[in-house]
Amino acid sequence: MCGIVAYIGNKDPKPILMEGLRRLEYRGYDSAGILVCNNSKSQLSKIAGKVNALSKILENKTDITPHLGIGHTRWATHGIPNEINAHPHSSNSGKLFIVHNGIIENYDTLKMELISRGYSFYSDTDSEVLVNLIQEIQIKENIKLPDAVQLALNQVVGAYGIVVCDIFNPEELVVARLGSPLAIGLGENSLYVGSDATPFLDHTRKVVYLEDNEMAVLSKNGEINIKNIISDESIHPYVEELQWSLNSIQKGGFEHFMLKEINEQPKAISDTLRGRLLVGQGKIQINSINEYKDKFLNAKRVIFVACGTSWHASLVGEYLFEYFIRIPVEVEYASEFRYRDPIIQKDDIVICISQSGETADTLAALKIAKEKGAFIYGICNVVGSSISRETHSGIYTHAGPEIGVASTKAFSTQITVLILIALKLAELKKTIDPNLLLDYQFELSQIPEKIERLTKSAPLIETIAKNYSDSQNCIYLGRGFNFPVALEGALKLKEISYIHAEGYPAAEMKHGPIALIDKNMPVVVIATKKTNYQKVVSNIQEIKSREANIIAIVSEGDETVAKLANHVIEIPNVSECFTPILATIPLQLLSYYIAIIRGCNVDQPRNLAKSVTVE
Ligand code: G6P
Repeated sequence: MCGIVAYIGNKDPKPILMEGLRRLEYRGYDSAGILVCNNSKSQLSKIAGKVNALSKILENKTDITPHLGIGHTRWATHGIPNEINAHPHSSNSGKLFIVHNGIIENYDTLKMELISRGYSFYSDTDSEVLVNLIQEIQIKENIKLPDAVQLALNQVVGAYGIVVCDIFNPEELVVARLGSPLAIGLGENSLYVGSDATPFLDHTRKVVYLEDNEMAVLSKNGEINIKNIISDESIHPYVEELQWSLNSIQKGGFEHFMLKEINEQPKAISDTLRGRLLVGQGKIQINSINEYKDKFLNAKRVIFVACGTSWHASLVGEYLFEYFIRIPVEVEYASEFRYRDPIIQKDDIVICISQSGETADTLAALKIAKEKGAFIYGICNVVGSSISRETHSGIYTHAGPEIGVASTKAFSTQITVLILIALKLAELKKTIDPNLLLDYQFELSQIPEKIERLTKSAPLIETIAKNYSDSQNCIYLGRGFNFPVALEGALKLKEISYIHAEGYPAAEMKHGPIALIDKNMPVVVIATKKTNYQKVVSNIQEIKSREANIIAIVSEGDETVAKLANHVIEIPNVSECFTPILATIPLQLLSYYIAIIRGCNVDQPRNLAKSVTVE
């Protein structure tokens, strides 16, 4: 939540910061601001609204040639999204400025203390408290800015990624991290800072990721000094070389990132499978599973921990693991798990699934499970993310950057990874017939091509969407492997179109939701021809007799449901365990087109953020 950018060097920071903020808008977009300065002048610009509105203000501000700047795009935690609460925030002296991502939990106590010492506050933010605490310490102790930042952070409870600067000494930036990611890009006599590396991808591929409890002083000549905030120990920067292409963070001819990312799924899944599914050799190769084979083979229970769409992928994981490897599985919301004093037993494996690898609740749940002695395995998309670094082992989905706030390709690649793991473990545990395993492997290799075919239904889905753009509510039903798909379909609709939608196991309909069904309640049913197909057909009959409109996702060539439903969308025939990947795609497109017709901003839906780094 919230995106941070900063620059120090010999170029004009304004265009660098503005482009960086645009790329980070997926993290929050309710207000934005930048501060730029040179040795004699500084300029602060803030707005309530999106980064584009900030650009317009800057067009008229050309009277300064700066060499240092900090910027922020906000997802409000403390204080409503208005210009006053927008970052950067200044200290009472007007000398120090901060951009902050995270939450200072003891801000109220700190604020009271500062007020008692004569400080005043113009905003409702915790960030303004932090910058004044730094000022207070710097004045009282008569020390340099980095030392004051370090002392202040040792008094703070909560999470932060911060950049602090002194406009009267614009020769350095001080950055620090606890819980909120910060990447430092190394350019030619220039240093870049971002909440992730996308803001500076076109300037440098060399990046240093700060670890928790680390701070760095970035100098104008390109020097970096990192140290541990608590122990004061100096840390040698570990420079990584980024492999991402610039194309992967641009829209590439699509109107929205979400549509681009839906259409990218064949490629994303091929990337997930590459080097792991070796159809020619008839095997699946997952290094992390080979390395920890004994842990997996001796495990008595698997606990999935995740949030949002990743939680839905975990639910698919439950069906897959129980089906293929006959191991008991639990699926936990990270936010609940972390506060329940969870029971972790010897030989439990905890699998954390997270696209961003930064979700605060998932990270906290991971740490708790680790402290309790579980073996922690991660499934993440963002390479080098906090969760991927905290786990004992794991696997990347390789979906490429996902910018649209509503998760699409991250979900299908998470399921792909889960299928690979389930099949690999089934082979190792000998819970699958070897010939059947080969069939599944071959079928999995065909999935990208089948999705390619499926995305051709987009015009049909757009036409269907026109009938439902005025709906107030919608119910999604599915059974077995398709129950998580119903949940994910409903989540996509509510996230981007603001239509109230609920997903249910189809058989549960009779225990409540059926009371809601009438001609004004569209019902989306995933009715592929597999286990319990007939029972789902009976559900469709029950819905039809209550006059609701039915949109059915069916297997290619299905004639039974076609006679009952108002609309059918066919998906290519696949084994039941693969249906979640395919059946989700028409639901992503349905939500997309409904949201577009309603005039919603699909890439930046209201109140949401891509990466939830606060509780
Ligand atoms: C936010 C996003 C969702 C995402 C969830 C978990 O709510 O808007 O799309 O599924 O966080 O994120 P993660 O990065 O942990 O998968």
